[in-house]
Order: sequence, then structure tokens, then C-alpha cells
Amino acid sequence: MKTNVLILGSGGREHAIAWKLKQSPLLGQLYCAPGNPGTALHAVNLSVDLSDFEEIKRLVLKYDTSMVVVGPEEPLVRGIVDYFSMDKELSHCFVVGPSQAGAQLEGSKDFAKSFMNRHHIPTAAYRSFTVEQINEGITFLKTMSPPYVLKADGLAAGKGVVILSDLNEAAQELRAMLEGKFGAAGNRVVIEEYLSGIELSVFFITDGKSYKLLPNAKDYKRIGDGDTGLNTGGMGAVSPVPFADQTFMKKVEERIVAPTVAGLQKEGIDYKGFVFVGIMNCCGDPYVIEYNVRLGDPETEVVLPRLKNDLLALLLSLSQGKLALEELVVSPEYAITVVIASEGYPQTVQKGYLIEGLDQVQGDAIVFHAGTKCVDKGIVTSGGRVLAVTATGPSLAQALEIAYGSVGLIRFKGVYYRKDIGNDVMKKGELNG
Ligand code: AMP
Ligand code: GLY
Repeated sequence: MKTNVLILGSGGREHAIAWKLKQSPLLGQLYCAPGNPGTALHAVNLSVDLSDFEEIKRLVLKYDTSMVVVGPEEPLVRGIVDYFSMDKELSHCFVVGPSQAGAQLEGSKDFAKSFMNRHHIPTAAYRSFTVEQINEGITFLKTMSPPYVLKADGLAAGKGVVILSDLNEAAQELRAMLEGKFGAAGNRVVIEEYLSGIELSVFFITDGKSYKLLPNAKDYKRIGDGDTGLNTGGMGAVSPVPFADQTFMKKVEERIVAPTVAGLQKEGIDYKGFVFVGIMNCCGDPYVIEYNVRLGDPETEVVLPRLKNDLLALLLSLSQGKLALEELVVSPEYAITVVIASEGYPQTVQKGYLIEGLDQVQGDAIVFHAGTKCVDKGIVTSGGRVLAVTATGPSLAQALEIAYGSVGLIRFKGVYYRKDIGNDVMKKGELNG
């Protein structure tokens, strides 16, 4: 029997998930809600408000879907998995993702830090403070050395981490956060030690007992070339990460991945989904910067193209608690994605500009849609991050050439992209190699 699947979300990540699921012979109908013009190439888009679980339930019943893949974190942190598991009418439908308790790994920085301490998972030293403890927080800041890292406990649309080098500014920021700068997300603030090193994103899938490592990736978070300017959702990614060699990945697996899964099990936390760990490589030792309970964007656009397994088969095994029987096969090729954004991103952008050249991109590159919309005149921009162009190749240089060749074909008013995705790791990779 074929499986009908509903994907929730509307970005490049969801387009990549749709693209990958569509390749499965086990797939029946594929739906994406709300989706975008890219997901519409592989799935039927359905309109939905992702915070309305009743509406999602109606879609699942109407379209007879037995699997829901949740792209973004909010529905998971708000408890969509628990909502489905408590409703008899939905008992046939498996939601890929953690229970609300498990989603706290992303939904509460304080929970994530104490979870790591309980299970001896390496992370920066920290303390957390509430508004009643502002003065203690400031005293604690004075004991730290700069730069000072302040994190709003809850979800703050990717803006809740502030790093400052001046003690007075850090104290002011702590006060502003605790007094509501990020709303309820800042009711508690984590202050932690600054870790210096190179970051990477490690992904795994777990059924709460066993786990399988997915390809790792490096995300380019800053808007400008050379890692300058404002933080964004991610301007590009590469996979694999050349500096994450076998020795390093063994440490990641032994010190971080295995204890995380064992910790979830020990605490009785139901978790059947993806884990994305932001890791800092500090002189060859891995430290956790953050957990996310979903796949990354734009990392998914390089992770899934390298995964040779049938993703739906893998998710079906996950639903049956049989993940341990699966063998993951990863392509040795490099994958790179370049995000094409609208001028002004990550701040205010103009929308509605016609995107030209999409039909000129040839077979070797894949264009994943993020902020696009279909209107009478064609496909137009509708957000900050507009497209992610992915290419694979036997070397990073070849993948880069294909990706940037295709990026150059795409035109719209105010088109912006980084010109240096992959350059840093290519230099390091060459040195290592
Ligand atoms: P997050 O929202 O937790 O991903 O944090 C945003 C970014 O802040 C991370 O990607 C890191 O680049 C940086 N960051 C977070 N925590 C630390 C830390 N303890 N030391 C150094 N950089 C950090
Ligand atoms: N690219 C980082 C994230 O998805 O959170």
C-alpha cells in the first residue's frame, strides 16, 4: 500500500523534502501545506495556518494521509506530535518529530543546557536568570570574560542570541531581554561562555532508541562575503564539511549523538524525528552550541541530495521503531547550495519582482524555492530568501562551478547572493587533502 504524505512548511527545506520524497516508489499522494511554487512541482499545495492543529487534522483526514513531515520548529514546540497521539481519529497518522517534551531541546535553551549537563554532553558553561535575578545575572557577567553570549530561553525567530564584547552593553542587553525585548521568549536568559572555533551542523534521525547519522553540513549565516554583516537564516551550505574528518566525527558521535539519544531514552522522552546539532569545533573537540528538533534550512538542500536512501522508506522504519535495521548510504560527492535573496535581507525587502531565467537552469543544478509566489505574470519574489540553488560534484570546486553558473542565470530586481560559499572549507580541504 502506498503512503500519502503531508509536508508542513513553505521554504527551501520543504521543497527539498518534497523533491526527495517524490522519488520514492512507496509514495502515494504528496501534499504540502502551505508550500510554495517549488513544492507544487512535486506535491499538491494546500493552504493552512500552521498554528491551527485542528485545520491540519482536517487536511490529514480529508486527504487520507498517514504521515506528516514537519519542516519548521514551531508546530513541534507547540506540541503537534502530542496533539496527534492523543486523538483517536489520527491514530493512523505518524508525525515525524519529537513530542513536546523532546522539542524543548530547541524550544528552551535552559532545558537544552540542563539536559546536556545531566548527560555530560560537552557544551559551553552557563547559568540562567529570570527578571527577579537581574542583579545576580550582572554579577555573573562580571565574572566572565568577553565576548559575552546571551540567549533568550524560548523561540525568538532566530534572533534570540546576542554576542557583545562590552560588559556594560551586555548588562544592558540582559536587562532588555529580561524586560521583554523578545517577549516571553526572554523570560529566562542563558548567559554562557564564548566558544571559539569553526561551526558545523550535524544531523541525525532517531527513534529514541537508535540513531543514524545523516550527512553533515556547514551553513553560512552572515549576509556578507567573508562572514561579515548581519546574521541571516543561512545564505548557503556545503556538505560534507572537509574539516569534520573521521576522528572528529567519531568524537561527535561518542560524546554528543549517542549520549543525546541515551539521555532522551533515560528521561522517557518520546522522540521519533530529526535532530540537528549546531557544533563548534574547538581545537578538534566538539561542543554543542544548540539543538534543533528539525532539519536545517538551507542545510537540507545539501543533506538530502547526498542521501542515497529512499527517504520515505527511512521514515516508515522510523514510525515502526525499526530504524536500527536501516543502513544509510551517503554519496561521496560534494553538494553545495547558494541562497539567492532579495536586496535588503535580513531586514526589510521589496516583494513581487518577476524572477527570470529559471527555465535556463540545466539538469545538473536543482533550484529549490523558498520565498516565491506564482502570479499571472509568472513566478515572483515573496520573501527575503527567494531560492536555493544546489549542485553536486566529485569535488567542491566542480559543485561550486555548476551552482554559481546556474545562479548567474537567474535574474530579478535586487537579486543578492554571497559569492564565497564554500571558499573557506575548500582552502582547508585542500590543505588537509
Ligand atoms: P543559535 O541561535 O544558538 O544558533 O546561535 C546563533 C549563533 O551564535 C551560532 O550559530 C553561533 O555562531 C553563535 N553562538 C551561539 N552560542 C555561542 C557560544 N557559546 N560561543 C560562540 N558563539 C556562539
Ligand atoms: N540554517 C540554520 C537553521 O536552519 O536553523
